[in-house]
Amino acid sequence: MAELKPKPVSASRTTLAQVMQPQHANNLGTVHGGVIMKLVDEVGAIACIRHAGHRVVTVAIDQMMFQHPIRIGHLVILTAEVSYVGRTSMEAEVQVVAENPLTGERVHTNTAYVVYVAVDENGHPVPVPPLLLETEAQRRRFEQAKVRQAFRLQQREQARRAYAADEETDA
Ligand SMILES: CC(C)(COP(=O)(O)OP(=O)(O)OC[C@H]1O[C@@H](n2cnc3c(N)ncnc32)[C@H](O)[C@@H]1OP(=O)(O)O)[C@@H](O)C(=O)NCCC(=O)NCCS
Repeated sequence: MAELKPKPVSASRTTLAQVMQPQHANNLGTVHGGVIMKLVDEVGAIACIRHAGHRVVTVAIDQMMFQHPIRIGHLVILTAEVSYVGRTSMEAEVQVVAENPLTGERVHTNTAYVVYVAVDENGHPVPVPPLLLETEAQRRRFEQAKVRQAFRLQQREQARRAYAADEETDA
């Protein structure tokens, strides 16, 4: 099969902005965390589709921490780019910023890491282009992402062993 041409990080960079409306609120009147999680997954997927040129499915979402509440009426701006690629998998780094449109004040609320797998029309994994690392920061992020990915695969292995042990106990 022909080698895939490497693509720069900039080719995947995607920004999504949405005004937070009353239907996005939790019982405290600030934005529900699940709304942000959905937007993170959407923008990360678009970045990875742009890189892969294929449909993608989400395979892992790292722990998410929300450092500041987001208010209704504020703008949420999410920026995603591919930070790492394996053979068929890609990690997207998503930065979430909330902006008060009246004052222009911006707060970084969280950074999320989401892993997607490029799939064909039957849902089978397909290879993705290598990532062209053009700056020192991109090379550093790639190495950091490699460590995160190794940790996720370790966790997957542990979970598989635990499920198998549960099934043996249940049988
Ligand atoms: C994603 C999916 C197609 C992968 O199929 P699979 O048989 O597990 O395939 P593989 O084991 O070859 O994994 C494919 C790639 O995903 C990576 N991967 C699999 N599980 C992972 C995990 N938990 N965390 C990080 N990466 C993972 C593998 O390392 C591999 O990467 P590589 O090709 O870059 O080396 C399959 O697991 C699936 O369909 N999952 C459901 C996805 C989905 O529906 N998401 C939405 C949830 S509602």
